[in-house]
Amino acid sequence: MTPQNETRILPYDRAAIAEAARLIGEGQPVAMPTETVYGLAADATNGEAVARIYEAKGRPSFNPLIVHIGSLEAAERIARFDDRTRALAERFWPGPLTLVLPLRDDSRIASLVTAGLGTVALRVPAHPAMRDLLEATGKPLAAPSANVSGRLSATRAEHVLAGLGGRIPLIVDAGPTELGLESTIVAMKGGGALLLRPGPITDLGIALAENDSAAIEAPGQLASHYAPAKPIRLDAADRRAGEWLIGFGPVEGDSSLSPSGDLTEAAAALFDRLHEADASPAEAIAVAPVPCHGLGAAIADRLRRAAAPRPRI
Ligand code: TXA
Ligand code: MG
Repeated sequence: MTPQNETRILPYDRAAIAEAARLIGEGQPVAMPTETVYGLAADATNGEAVARIYEAKGRPSFNPLIVHIGSLEAAERIARFDDRTRALAERFWPGPLTLVLPLRDDSRIASLVTAGLGTVALRVPAHPAMRDLLEATGKPLAAPSANVSGRLSATRAEHVLAGLGGRIPLIVDAGPTELGLESTIVAMKGGGALLLRPGPITDLGIALAENDSAAIEAPGQLASHYAPAKPIRLDAADRRAGEWLIGFGPVEGDSSLSPSGDLTEAAAALFDRLHEADASPAEAIAVAPVPCHGLGAAIADRLRRAAAPRPRI
């Protein structure tokens, strides 16, 4: 939505959840309380809805987002669990634990959610408002903290309004959040659990892996892990020999981020088009110029990282 639009605040009740579910169904992001912090939720299977989260937050880059689901069963339809991760889920869900797990091929999660990674961050929240919305929509909901990018997380509806007012249609208000701190994030590595972000759960009850290699970096930088295997040339107005051209707007290519030049559509399509180009028979990838305003800045950031020289591991 455009910045001059009004943001409504509705107290948490059945009518508020029904309205939130309606907006989610339309592909809009909605601010929701959770037990940790307020989240900005959108349908995780709808790439354009996810692009609107980044647009509202003014994120300069596409970091992977946490996907919220109502149950372990719903989580198992999105990611692959093993005995250890299932035991963690059974012990701490619903609650402030996020598990980073291998993404299933048939998950239907939009590639913008995972920033093209082969893993997905999942959590079953405990807050009744978020649980009601998950049930009402029947969708997995991507939800980063509901604050402007780089600013403090929001623990009250007023914080959300101060940061995102005019940029989102609705805030569901359930008062201050209980924990006030984002969830603990854990990935499995070798023999144990690797703590990617400390949070409210401090004792996982299992051995922690030593973070002794550069294989996994701090959250936030992880998004930079997905880079196509092939060299990428940016700002390409046409196709050179051996290239797969990803078009945008008037630049037609082998594929296009958005034939009509729509940045929301382009953000939603970005990782799918990069994967497709990587899997094509072409030796190299070229990408048409994308304007640098609005979501275009995040697209340009991602493309610059994808095109940057990579360290050999
Ligand atoms: O408490 C919370 O977790 C809140 C509420 C709203 O649920 N959500 C939240 O989301 O803090 P967000 O998007 O602000 O934080 C997501 C974090 C980032 O640090 C990101 O790098 C990490 O999760 N993350 C997401 N997917 C990942 C993945 N596949 N691998 C590693 N880290 C991942
Ligand atoms: Mg955050």
